[in-house]
Amino acid sequence: MVHIPSNPSGTVLVLFFIVLISRAASRDILPLRSSLSVEELQSNVLQSSDGTFSCGFYSIYDNASIFSIWYSNSAEKTIIWSANRDRPVHARRSMLTLQEDGSMVLMDYDGTVVWHADGNLTDAQYAQLMDTGNLVLKGTNGKILWQSFDSPTDTLVPSQRISATTELVSTTQLHVSGHYILRFSDMSILSLIYNDPDVSDIYWPDPDAPFFDNDRKRYNNTRLGVLDYLGQFVSSDFAVQKALVASDAGPGIKRRLTLDLDGNLRIYSLNSSDGLWSVSMVVMPILCKIHGVCGPNGICHCSPMPSCSCPPGYKMANPGTWSQGCTAVVNISCGVAQPVRFLRLPNTDFWGNDQKTGIHIISGL
Ligand SMILES: *[C@@H]1O[C@H](CO)[C@@H](O)[C@H](O)[C@H]1NC(C)=O
Ligand SMILES: *[C@@H]1O[C@H](CO)[C@@H](O)[C@H](O)[C@H]1NC(C)=O
Ligand SMILES: *[C@@H]1O[C@H](CO)[C@@H](O)[C@H](O)[C@H]1NC(C)=O
Ligand SMILES: *[C@@H]1O[C@H](CO)[C@@H](O)[C@H](O)[C@H]1NC(C)=O
Ligand SMILES: *[C@@H]1O[C@H](CO)[C@@H](O)[C@H](O)[C@H]1NC(C)=O
Repeated sequence: MVHIPSNPSGTVLVLFFIVLISRAASRDILPLRSSLSVEELQSNVLQSSDGTFSCGFYSIYDNASIFSIWYSNSAEKTIIWSANRDRPVHARRSMLTLQEDGSMVLMDYDGTVVWHADGNLTDAQYAQLMDTGNLVLKGTNGKILWQSFDSPTDTLVPSQRISATTELVSTTQLHVSGHYILRFSDMSILSLIYNDPDVSDIYWPDPDAPFFDNDRKRYNNTRLGVLDYLGQFVSSDFAVQKALVASDAGPGIKRRLTLDLDGNLRIYSLNSSDGLWSVSMVVMPILCKIHGVCGPNGICHCSPMPSCSCPPGYKMANPGTWSQGCTAVVNISCGVAQPVRFLRLPNTDFWGNDQKTGIHIISGL
């Protein structure tokens, strides 16, 4: 029989015990020779010591998961990093393991290794999710052997750097890597690039404007960009005092810099009372200036609201998404005579086809 103490000190003891248990349930460390598995249990999630970030498996479909880090308190899990964005694992029996030899591997249900942490990890002792959102693999004396901050996906969090060797790549609706990239160009200019198998083009900073009009300096080989805790993003090529600044600049607000699926780069700020994000800075206020936003042959309309359409004689290639643009309703062949004619599209600019600089007409269809 269990004796339930009725005196006040006994009650205190019982409460203390409960507090201990709930503390133990969330942890920020994954020790050597242990795993996080894909099954949805609290013991399979690491949480940073201040609770801001969580790390574990995130389900993208019924049967598919990615190993990720997210903001714990956002209404919808907001992923800031993932190990295997383009190779999800099965939602049963997959796991991330910190092996005896120090390697950290992500295995699918059948044991296939789909990802591993790079570097010499023989000295690794444990993995820890830091309050910054950085997952680090530490050796003896706390030396950092590997960190998730060095391989960003589509997002930077405050204090995380973009460098000469890293880039952000947008994530599509299907949770795979998209065509938009943020990285330093050959001239050390932090640039937004549209990149698909046929074309690679810089669309930010404005490719038609001189560098100083864009408030940029060339050839600073430092190549470093960082979002600080006040909501300012600075980069080694920015002219002095030309940081990108969040509209709610100041301390105490959780933010992130994300290269979105539409190719725009935005700072988001978290409302801690309802867990919702709002845009506090946008790099491309005119959406139509983002290359590829309506896909090949698509026409982007700036006003009244940004929207896409197809030219006469064309239709959407894939009615689900504009990223694949428009195709001709009839096949146009150069070999045979066909009743083809050219149409004038008033107030429309054709991307990248300018013959010389001068008055620039922005599509206002
Ligand atoms: C998920 O996997 C199970 C077992 O492998 C299978 O029966 C089920 O059809 C799968 N569901 C989806 C949506 O793929
Ligand atoms: C890996 O690191 C360990 C411990 O720091 C060191 O002894 C070893 O020589 C390193 N191995 C390689 C291949 O660099
Ligand atoms: C290059 O960028 C770094 C980092 O922003 C800065 O400290 C340094 O002064 C810059 N160098 C020049 C020559 O502008
Ligand atoms: C945060 O959300 C609450 C509840 O929806 C709202 O009342 C408040 O105005 C929001 N704060 C900001 C800064 O948007
Ligand atoms: C155009 O050609 C492609 C490939 O030859 C074919 O699949 C398609 O059906 C044709 N479309 C029309 C409208 O004739």
